[in-house]
This record gives sequence, C-alpha cells and structure tokens, in this order.
Amino acid sequence: MSDTRDIKERIKDRVNQGLLGQWYAVAKSVDVQPGRPHGVKALGQKLVLWREPSGKLACLEDFCPHRGAPLSRGEVHETGVACRYHGIVVDPTGTIVRVPAMSECPLEGRKAVASYTVTEAGDAIFVFFPSVEMPVAPPLNLPPELADPAWIGFLCVSPWEANYRYALDNLADPMHGCYLHAQSFTLAYGSKQDIMKLDKTEHGFTVSRVHQAGDNFDWTEMVFGASTWCRLDLPYPKAAGPGGIFRIIGYTTPVDEHNCIVYFWRLRKIEGIEREAWRFMYRALLEPRHWKVLEQDREMLSAMPDDARMREMLYQHDVGVGALRQTMTRMARTQIEAEDAAAQRSAG
Ligand code: FES
Ligand SMILES: [Fe+2]
Repeated sequence: MSDTRDIKERIKDRVNQGLLGQWYAVAKSVDVQPGRPHGVKALGQKLVLWREPSGKLACLEDFCPHRGAPLSRGEVHETGVACRYHGIVVDPTGTIVRVPAMSECPLEGRKAVASYTVTEAGDAIFVFFPSVEMPVAPPLNLPPELADPAWIGFLCVSPWEANYRYALDNLADPMHGCYLHAQSFTLAYGSKQDIMKLDKTEHGFTVSRVHQAGDNFDWTEMVFGASTWCRLDLPYPKAAGPGGIFRIIGYTTPVDEHNCIVYFWRLRKIEGIEREAWRFMYRALLEPRHWKVLEQDREMLSAMPDDARMREMLYQHDVGVGALRQTMTRMARTQIEAEDAAAQRSAG
C-alpha cells in the first residue's frame, strides 16, 4: 500500500530516521564475541549479530519467529542462533532450521525473519539497510585510511542522546572548534573569526575556513555513497609526541529519532618506532584528553531540543550544514519516489 502522506513530511521523516540504501556502523568488532549473540538497535530496528563457527558474522532482525522473543538472549549453535524461550534455531538467512520441541514441525524450512548483509572493517561491524532502489548491498565505501596500514589509530564509540543529524551537522561545522572546544588540548589555537567556503568533491563536499588552515578544526570533507562519513584533520600539539596531524574519520548511526551512536576513528600516519611511541602515549596520556573534547560535543548536542532545527537562524558559517541537509533531502526524495513507483507498479 502506498503512503499517502505529503511527500515533504515523508522526506523529513526518512531523513530523521536514517536514509536507507546505506551501510551503518552498528557495533565494535570486539562487542561480538564467538558463541554469544549480541543485540543492537539501529534505524529504530532491533538486530541480533553473532559469529558463525567459521567466524563469519550473521545479522537478523532480533525477533524469534515463534512468539517474538529477542534472539539476542539466545545462544549460538552450529547452524544458527537458538531462541532461549523454546529453542527454535534460525539460520543466518532467517530460515527456521530446527524446532527442537516437536519433531517434523511444519515451521522448519520457513524463511521467517529479515536477514541483513553484514561486514567488518576498521574494528567495526557494518550492516546494510536496503532500500527499494538498492535491495542488494553494494561494497562498503570504506575510508581509505581504514584500509591503509600506514595509518594507525583507535576507534572510539559513544552513544549520544541526540538525533544523528545533530552529530552530522556538528561535523559539517568546523567553526564550532575554536568556541566549544576552546579549552582543549588540540583545539585551543587559531582565530575566532572567519568566513567559510564550500567546494564540491567527487563524492560530496568540503567545507573549510577561508583564512585559516592547520591551526584548529579548519575543514571537513563529507562523503556520500554506500555509507556517509566525514574526514577532518586536527593539528597535533608538540606535547603529543611524534607524528603529524591527527585525522578523524567519523560515522554516525541513528539508533532512533532521539539517539545516535558516533563512531570516530582517531588516526595518525606514523612510521617505525614512533608508531609504538604514539600508541603508548595515546593510551597512557592522550585518550582522556580526546574524550573530553568529544564529551563537549555530546553534552552540547544532547542538551539541544529535538526541534531546534525548526527555529534556527543560519548564517554564512552554516554553509556546510545547509549543503549536508540538501544532499540528504535529495537522497531521501529519490528513495521515496522509487518506493512509490514500485508500489504503483505492483498495484497496476
Ligand atoms: S519465542 Fe522463540 S522459540 Fe518460542
Ligand atoms: Fe566538536
């Protein structure tokens, strides 16, 4: 049945809930240990992840087809995940493979639960949320830094009580660096006034300060594709040891309309013995300082009302925020139009 609501409302809802046809980070790799199912929530949906005996990841809707108990409370078997309530085993395709309480139960062999394509990269687990236009997962457009061993880094994951769009807006807004983070280890430098500029790139855009580069959080690149992510550089104070800039790769995952999880990779390109030196310094000294910066973002965004967007007054510096919203609105519109066209085809 096609959705008869105003298309603008539907686009707004889609963007707020999370675009489909995208890969989203849903957990750290270490969260899913062999032999133990792990429940997550993303885009309003509960999912269960587990590792098959081969180590391969599987992902299903976290819902037992018998009476709806969460499969994430079950156990991992050779052939799938077993529900703790009455023992039904569901395989990675979402097919019921065993009903142990009754022999030759007609439920066996039925595909009853949605299954998701899942992959692992950069110490994180990504799940593809299909759309009508993109029912099959394309390859994940992994940021090259995460596949390049010359970069070393740490994945830092944090749940924020804010719609994921605030986290993305925040990343498309370099100018907040020298204000919100003025009292911080990495972002205490540079001027507090500027003009912003926007440049198109192959897969998105960059937003940067016109009069300053390399002194603070001075630019961001937003990348759109099979997943949406951003890249930014922060200058690294001498006191932080060897190596050059500090690069952040950021992903945000909508949990529901009021919560998100941010996935930030903190990376540096350092060679030889200095790699270990930095790794050690990061763990021993720097990590708490970097967490403090992220906490400043989290606290600010969580304290903003959900409908702040309805009353805001943007100015020149919000050119990145504007471009981000235009891009996401366009992507949502394309998806919804494809859904309507498919609904019409099946009705006609
Ligand atoms: S609810 Fe899962 S086996 Fe009954
Ligand atoms: Fe920030």
